[in-house]
Amino acid sequence: MQIISCSNYDQLSQKLANQIAQEVKHLLKMRKKCVLVVPTGSSPRGLYEALIPLLKDVDLANLHIVSLDEYYPMKKTSPHSYFQEIYTLLLEPLHRANPTFRFDHAYIPNGEAPDPFKECEQFDQKIYRLGGLDIVVLGLGVNGHIAFNEPGSRLEETTRLVQIAQSTKQSNSRFFEHKDEVPKRAITLGLKTIVSAQNIYVIVTGESKNTIINKIMNLAEPTSAIPASYLLHHKSVFWYINEHDIHLKTALA
Ligand code: GLP
Repeated sequence: MQIISCSNYDQLSQKLANQIAQEVKHLLKMRKKCVLVVPTGSSPRGLYEALIPLLKDVDLANLHIVSLDEYYPMKKTSPHSYFQEIYTLLLEPLHRANPTFRFDHAYIPNGEAPDPFKECEQFDQKIYRLGGLDIVVLGLGVNGHIAFNEPGSRLEETTRLVQIAQSTKQSNSRFFEHKDEVPKRAITLGLKTIVSAQNIYVIVTGESKNTIINKIMNLAEPTSAIPASYLLHHKSVFWYINEHDIHLKTALA
């Protein structure tokens, strides 16, 4: 496990973008394929902005981008859908900067699927057919969730339909005009799938994450009460910490 301390959000975004661009290029060259998993939310916005120019002159025909989660039910055309978010902030600008990136190499759980259980099963099959995950980028929920793996999630779970925790609904309500519009369920990649990745990068930014990240870093053992704590045992996890917002009190910092 490594902690990458960054003095502010812009530096964090740029440092992480450099790292991911380098890795994507390396995998495309050496393995002829790269599967990159990305989050939504406010944390990765700077990363996407910094990453796109770095991938401008690379042949991206074999880059696959998987999105971690989507509200359910949710129309793709809704401004609240993660589909719109990832499309607008990453897929579309990436394709505009570099047309070798193919939209049919983007995979987002379908919030409109008539049978969500089947959708989850098919999503796992897609990941399996891609040959697994190379790079996973994560944001961190205030309650320690990753993707929509809320407290109580187990390490053996794969893609599934979940209930969104009350505290997450409250935190996500900032994106909605009315509280009753905030979705109650979502489709999410499971912890089993996430920890199967070769490399994991967690973006920790925003003062609201101070308490949870300190809890995680000072845990003796992972606990399902804090799903992100399962990352502590991963062989290659990098915590990108925005020191402007976060004050780590741990021997590791
Ligand atoms: C959301 C998403 C997560 C995201 C997290 C943090 O509920 N499901 O994938 O990482 O919360 O969001 P933010 O980066 O806006 O703090």
